[in-house]
Amino acid sequence: MTERTVVVTGAGSGIGRELALLSARRGANLALCDLDEQGLAETAETARAMGCDVFTRRVDVAGAEDMAGFATGTLDRFGGVDLLVNNAGVGLLGGFLDTSRKDWDWLVSINLMGVVHGCQEFLPVMIERGRGGHVVNLSSTAGLLANPGLSAYSTTKFAVFGLSETLRIEMRPYGIGVTAVCPGVINTNITRSTPIRGAADADKRREHVAALYQKRGYTADRVARNILRAVDRNKPVAPIAAEAHLSYWLSRMVPPAGRWLSARLAALAE
Ligand SMILES: NC(=O)c1ccc[n+]([C@@H]2O[C@H](COP(=O)([O-])OP(=O)(O)OC[C@H]3O[C@@H](n4cnc5c(N)ncnc54)[C@H](O)[C@@H]3O)[C@@H](O)[C@H]2O)c1
Repeated sequence: MTERTVVVTGAGSGIGRELALLSARRGANLALCDLDEQGLAETAETARAMGCDVFTRRVDVAGAEDMAGFATGTLDRFGGVDLLVNNAGVGLLGGFLDTSRKDWDWLVSINLMGVVHGCQEFLPVMIERGRGGHVVNLSSTAGLLANPGLSAYSTTKFAVFGLSETLRIEMRPYGIGVTAVCPGVINTNITRSTPIRGAADADKRREHVAALYQKRGYTADRVARNILRAVDRNKPVAPIAAEAHLSYWLSRMVPPAGRWLSARLAALAE
């Protein structure tokens, strides 16, 4: 990885934290943001202990002004950006009939508009500097195959996938690569923070889902390594775990089989 300044949203936990720390190990300057100040401070402290220059800011990615302030602070500190990772995201477990309008607003404002805000603030900066760069957007396997137990989440991740595809073409003349990442089942805090709708016993459902993710055992640091490899190779799409590769292949080559698999996987999480 040759990026010198790396921006990561949602760097206080999980995939964002591991990406930040791996970038620090590889000698990058870091601009990190999160809504969770404590998690953010912990990531920054670990990165600084590696000798890395770190700028942090509490940001709600759903807020365009928050993101603008973060971008200004990043530029003041480092003068440019080489890699932007729009990672911050939230889950919501539930089918369409159990998902309220408020739930939709919340999810769309973070998972989709958070990515839009990151791109709006940082892409013009990369373009103006004229040295190219790279953008990574966190989509999901639920952004490749419709997931019936996660209908609103799935919708936002399809949107992120579509935005990434569009940007990839639009940014090519500027030498800026764009990668949509579809991780798979990754054992992070997301299983604990995801609101659950429509379950008779939400605690039991959460335990069940968390146990599935833990049993799968795919860790965020492995995701981080694979994401930076995909950036180095300028991949348009980066499926990470085996189930993500299978979902990507089925969604492109055999969509009916993909739908069948999706329904089976959703039933597993019931
Ligand atoms: N874990 C998985 O299995 C998985 C699978 C597919 C996609 N993803 C995606 O990967 C990304 C990272 O997820 P993770 O598993 O590391 O989860 P995580 O919960 O461990 O980390 C997400 C981070 O984003 C932050 N965040 C949430 N809302 C925010 C907001 N409005 N503004 C700023 N920061 C905010 C959280 O505080 C947290 O630190 C998300 O976009 C998620 O949808 C995760």
